[in-house]
Amino acid sequence: MEKIKTEVIVVGAGPGGYTAAFYAADRGKKVILVEQERLGGVCLNRGCIPSKALLHAAKIIIETQEFSKNGIQFGPPQIDLEKLRSWKDSILLKLSQGVGMLAQRRNVQVIKGRAYFEDSKTVRIETEEGQKFYTYDYAIISVGSKPAMPRAFDLGNPRIMTSTEALNVEDIPENLLVIGGGYIGMELGTVYSILGSKVVLAEALPSILAGADPDLAKPVAARAKKNFQEIRVGAKVKDMSTAGKKIRVIMEVDGQTKDELYDKVLVAVGRASNSENLGLENTLVQLDERGFIKVNEHQQTDDPNIYAIGDIVGGAMLAHKATKEGRIAVEVICGEASTFEDIIIPAVVFTEPELAWCGLTEAEAKSKGIQVEVSKFPWAASGRALTFDKIDGMTKLIVEPETERVLGIGIVGHNAGELIAEGVVLIEMGGTVRDLAECVHPHPTLSETLMEAAEAFYGYATHIYTRPKKPSE
Ligand code: NAI
Repeated sequence: MEKIKTEVIVVGAGPGGYTAAFYAADRGKKVILVEQERLGGVCLNRGCIPSKALLHAAKIIIETQEFSKNGIQFGPPQIDLEKLRSWKDSILLKLSQGVGMLAQRRNVQVIKGRAYFEDSKTVRIETEEGQKFYTYDYAIISVGSKPAMPRAFDLGNPRIMTSTEALNVEDIPENLLVIGGGYIGMELGTVYSILGSKVVLAEALPSILAGADPDLAKPVAARAKKNFQEIRVGAKVKDMSTAGKKIRVIMEVDGQTKDELYDKVLVAVGRASNSENLGLENTLVQLDERGFIKVNEHQQTDDPNIYAIGDIVGGAMLAHKATKEGRIAVEVICGEASTFEDIIIPAVVFTEPELAWCGLTEAEAKSKGIQVEVSKFPWAASGRALTFDKIDGMTKLIVEPETERVLGIGIVGHNAGELIAEGVVLIEMGGTVRDLAECVHPHPTLSETLMEAAEAFYGYATHIYTRPKKPSE
């Protein structure tokens, strides 16, 4: 059996995997990138990118509807689902082809096939033309995750969707139940509710978007209550069955059992690892109890030749976390002391309004007993927010009292996802509230809300009144 030798083999071409492959090639390594489907992974093909295209479409509808009160009236939207779908799909194709072209430019060899670890140094790749064997100095596993589908919901009925099917938008069901009030449930619930479905969202916990600070999640919940038919918190879906052309759902809400029929159901209850059928048992790689690959802060698995990055190592399942981990893995492979410790990973939920945060949240500080000071700037006081007609926003700083270092930033409001990047830079650089207050922000922009939240900390924000701090405070 002939074995082809390479320096680095990356298994899985999502944002983490292709970044790692490109970076390794940029650092002079001979790289093979293996992918069984289209390049780009879940994020590009059935996650971040298609959902953002659909959310953009939904937000256009909402904007035009809401603007009627300000003197411009549009007619009801005529939705051509086929056109909308093909616009969305054209973006995905363009991006995926772009990844392929960039791989070519860097001499990264892309192999379409399924990788299987024969041992710690050998991967077998099954392709349409047959199987080949490769040896490597280092492998980077970045095979990602898939939507979790609890057994009680897995009826094999196409009316029960995961995010993958929901993003195909085959139709706009009249009644849609969304199970899970996390990222996916809130984002896709927003899309379908605005496209015309009556959406009921069921979340088992006492609030939606449980990872975010409650005061920041509040405007998102308030808007969702307007667009969705109902948001039920403390609502645990227990069972589902097929009932003709409907899905029968049994749900417990505040101790009471509800028995209802829906046209379609979207299950968005988290994500599961893709670690099975990879031959990992033939290596020294260890999995945790949920099937995610165990790694240290250098992205090293228990097998000295194998690294792992992205969703497959668990933690925050976000493309930009995977990308950063990919860079760290490559740097460690290149002999640098790179580590994932103390890295700020921003989170963004692209609802209407958007919700974003980075670093420490107020809730986390409370639960860990960390003393913090909080400073807030409400967007009702922002001229720019008023001109966007988007005043349901808030910018919030979490500050270490003695040093005045900013430990966390949370933003809810229009374009919060773009605004949070400034917070990441500030926190990564060990910036203080004073730094933020003294940096001139362009007027009129929403970015001023960050500066004014910092000014409010000292009590001299121009556009809100807060009691000025005495020098001793
Ligand atoms: P999630 O973990 O964010 O939320 C799942 C929710 O479902 C939880 O709040 C949980 O309490 C609830 N739940 C579980 N079982 C339930 C039941 N039987 N009945 C009612 N509620 C139930 O997971 P989600 O939304 O599926 O997203 C998966 C991951 O994908 C996220 O953690 C995120 O990392 C990533 N993602 C990120 C996005 C972004 O960055 N904007 C967008 C979409 C997904």
